[in-house]
Amino acid sequence: MKTRKQILITFEGGEGSGKTTQSKLLAIYLKQKGFDVLVLREPGGCPITEKIRNILLSPDNFKLTSLSELFLYEASRAQLTAEIILPALEAGKIVICDRFTDATIAYQGWGRKLPTAQIEMLNDLACYNLKPAITFYLDIDPQEGLKRAKGLADKPYGLAGDRIEAQNLTFHKNVRNGYLDLCKQYRQRIKQIAADKNIDEIQKIIQAYTDETLAQIEG
Ligand code: TMP
Repeated sequence: MKTRKQILITFEGGEGSGKTTQSKLLAIYLKQKGFDVLVLREPGGCPITEKIRNILLSPDNFKLTSLSELFLYEASRAQLTAEIILPALEAGKIVICDRFTDATIAYQGWGRKLPTAQIEMLNDLACYNLKPAITFYLDIDPQEGLKRAKGLADKPYGLAGDRIEAQNLTFHKNVRNGYLDLCKQYRQRIKQIAADKNIDEIQKIIQAYTDETLAQIEG
């Protein structure tokens, strides 16, 4: 197995953007190249945080306030980072995470209208200041994305979707604007890719950027 300096790769996007598929394909690509790769998701990724995920996504919890929601996402992140991500990076694995800190800025900051400056502080605290080496943002029109997401076979919460998917279109449009703003702020780190291309075409772009980033890190 090849080992590398600490490399965290994150995937972001609205509902139905295809980021989960793309993150798994990238893991296969990197494993074929001889890297030790760990794929995780947020919220979730280990037993404690999967329980937090259930609280966050269950439509039964419609009384959850925006602030409680924010702290639960950060709690999940703090646990996953300390228990799984940091030890994996330390062991030389490449960690691919399906969503990370940018999601909280987009969803809780732009979607729920909570103050982004304070969210940034909580993000840093929860992830021990860990920064992704590269982030792929798969951009999709929210109407199209929600249609795609609701048509997926694996629907644990039924056709209306989970508690976040079930938010109105304005919420999802605000989330997208949040992501687009982050792309502008962090042009170097975040690679914006239109999600309406076919799966292989998108994956090729992701692989090229990943190769470039790995080469830069290796020096
Ligand atoms: P997923 O559907 O990509 O697995 O993500 C779960 C949901 O949680 C998705 O609707 C986005 C949302 N989310 C936030 O609202 N804030 C966050 O910080 C994260 C990580 C996810």
